[in-house]
Amino acid sequence: MSTQPTVLITGASSGIGATYAERFAQRGHDLVLVARDEQRLQSLAARLREQFAVTVDVLVADLNKAEALGTVEARLRDDASIGVLINNAGLGQSGGFLAQNAESLERLIGVNITAVTRLAAAIAPRLAEAGNGAIVNIGSVVGLAPELGMTVYGATKAFVQFLSQGLALELGPKGVYVQAVLPAATRTEIWARSGLDINTLPEVMEVEDLVDAALVGYDRREPITIPPLAHGERWAALDGARQMLMGDLRQAEVASRYRA
Ligand SMILES: NC(=O)c1ccc[n+]([C@@H]2O[C@H](COP(=O)([O-])OP(=O)(O)OC[C@H]3O[C@@H](n4cnc5c(N)ncnc54)[C@H](OP(=O)(O)O)[C@@H]3O)[C@@H](O)[C@H]2O)c1
Repeated sequence: MSTQPTVLITGASSGIGATYAERFAQRGHDLVLVARDEQRLQSLAARLREQFAVTVDVLVADLNKAEALGTVEARLRDDASIGVLINNAGLGQSGGFLAQNAESLERLIGVNITAVTRLAAAIAPRLAEAGNGAIVNIGSVVGLAPELGMTVYGATKAFVQFLSQGLALELGPKGVYVQAVLPAATRTEIWARSGLDINTLPEVMEVEDLVDAALVGYDRREPITIPPLAHGERWAALDGARQMLMGDLRQAEVASRYRA
């Protein structure tokens, strides 16, 4: 039993989520691991218990199934030991917009948007009430780049970024830290699962490097962490330009360039 908050990690059976699990266990946190693949979760849990002497619970859930999502929400609402949510589970997009169908859109949006939002909503009131805790949402640099051709996936990640920025503004003053992590291409199974060959990419980050960098941002309490971004001032400039644009909006007046 750890004195630190328990960390609930979605998508903990592989890739970024499994690496977060390893790192938080190393830091001495108890864990709740969520994903669909029970065997992989159990074997990771057994290894982490053995190696780091922490308590690790496994919660098997398909976040696209209402009942399973409800179970994870209830755990986040009711288990006062959980102080950190790593909202990581996500799917990639297979093919362009014209290759999508209703089911593939529903699956993508269900995990990348609906589950992320509902899980944050399940834990946020309790953390705000306690005046501490953290919500980490895994976005993507694809959410900044419609040019990359992963339109719906990018849109889900733009949503995650906006959600995180809004939550940081709402919950930050109540003592809750909210971080969005925006990885670029990282060596995990998401590529093969989306039918893409990772070996065709010019550059790929190793997953341990990605998570370690994300945790540097976490420890610094950064609202947005972009591990592959060398020039942090470029993000500041982009955000500054956005805020200036907001200042330029005139609610009551049509801009002169639109007057007939
Ligand atoms: N790798 C990259 O290049 C990259 C770049 C930017 C952002 N990201 C983001 O990073 C996050 C983690 O992805 P990853 O790269 O680590 O890929 P990954 O290895 O494929 O991991 C995805 C995780 O999500 C879980 N998952 C998928 N569908 C689920 C569902 N319906 N219900 C519950 N869990 C589900 C998977 O577990 P089960 O199959 O066991 O359910 C798995 O643990 C995602 O949000 C992804 O969009 C990745």
